[in-house]
Amino acid sequence: MKILFLDQSSEPGGAELCLADIAQQFAKTSLVGVFTEGLFPDYLRQWNIPVKVLADQTFQVQKTSGLLAALKSLNQLVPLVTRVAQLSKHYDVIYANTQKALVVGALTSFLSNRPLVYHLHDIVSRDHFSAINRRIIITLANQAALVIANSQASFDAFIQSGGRAENVHIVYNGFRLESYENCVNDPKYLHSLLASDFTNFDSGDFPFFVGHFSRLSPWKGQHVLIEALQYCPDNVIALFVGDALFGEQAYVKQLREKIQVLNLEHRVKFLGFRSDIPQLMAACNLVTHTSTAPEPFGRVIIEAMLCGTPVVAAGAGGAVELINHGQTGWLTPPGDAKKLADIIKTCQNQPNQAKAMAQKAQTQASKLFNLETTNLKIAQLLDEVLKTF
Ligand code: UDP
Ligand code: GLC
Repeated sequence: MKILFLDQSSEPGGAELCLADIAQQFAKTSLVGVFTEGLFPDYLRQWNIPVKVLADQTFQVQKTSGLLAALKSLNQLVPLVTRVAQLSKHYDVIYANTQKALVVGALTSFLSNRPLVYHLHDIVSRDHFSAINRRIIITLANQAALVIANSQASFDAFIQSGGRAENVHIVYNGFRLESYENCVNDPKYLHSLLASDFTNFDSGDFPFFVGHFSRLSPWKGQHVLIEALQYCPDNVIALFVGDALFGEQAYVKQLREKIQVLNLEHRVKFLGFRSDIPQLMAACNLVTHTSTAPEPFGRVIIEAMLCGTPVVAAGAGGAVELINHGQTGWLTPPGDAKKLADIIKTCQNQPNQAKAMAQKAQTQASKLFNLETTNLKIAQLLDEVLKTF
């Protein structure tokens, strides 16, 4: 099957990593069109997935932009759609992976008479999108031959915003199990990385590493973990893995100021964007997820489970579908730093129970979130689209 995948992002966020895993099975016959050059197209090249950069400049509309910004972007849209329409003649299906890709994909699908598939990675609600953008997403997605929702939470929000249920199928993200098989739950991996920052490794007062793996962005809630540290023992260390992928520098500044005000410099470390996520997660004592708005899916939660590391997540959106509270991890109210600190302390004080829970989660996650199964499901859905178009 020849698929023209479209994604607006130049950076490898969760939606892009998910797309790369799906596109790889069609790599011989398909193409991923991205709007600008960056780390994501580089990542695709590393995996030998054909990629083409389609636009000369960044498409300017943000998720929360209003009508004016949307109209202003039209002068960028026309040449982009013309280019994609030409390209799409060589493909059977147009597969839009992000909101702006949906706009381009829908227009192209109309012009070139190719079926449109939309992979919905977002919760279409006012927490995440302006009213005009919600309207655009729903109107265009309702024209698609197939919508793939990344969770029940994304599905529900889509329907509540006016989306048609008939063409929507929920398919969870899948993961390459082999990437996690050889991970060792050993903090030594972190010791070598951090030795110069934390000097007490040899003193017997072992640090308790709490990892946070996410792009630095206000709704990802890194500040909640920083606040929680105040209520935890001194040997609890927070590691932030991830970068401000979409220009959230003001938030990074706020985080650093908070750390200074709370006098926590010696207990927080920013590692930036990393590609050794399984190794880092496996070396942490606990992985935290702290999104303050409902998380559409939350890849990091499943990745932590596959590493056999205990995980605590903000109990909203897709996270609630992924964790069985008290059985395979913990859920805390979004934004509640004290409750998060309570879980960190429980996990620190009861390592055997936490480990048993993590092992149960690992077994369950390997069964439910295997990439092979996911890819099979997606291929079947795409076959169906081609047969019925
Ligand atoms: N990630 C990464 N390097 C980093 C930080 C995060 O590769 O330094 C990955 C992480 O492993 C996960 C993805 O980025 O696969 C984030 O996806 P998630 O669904 O958790 O959140 P999103 O950013 O897509 O909202
Ligand atoms: C988006 C969502 C995230 C989800 C990912 C993969 O980036 O924000 O929650 O895990 O897509 O579907």
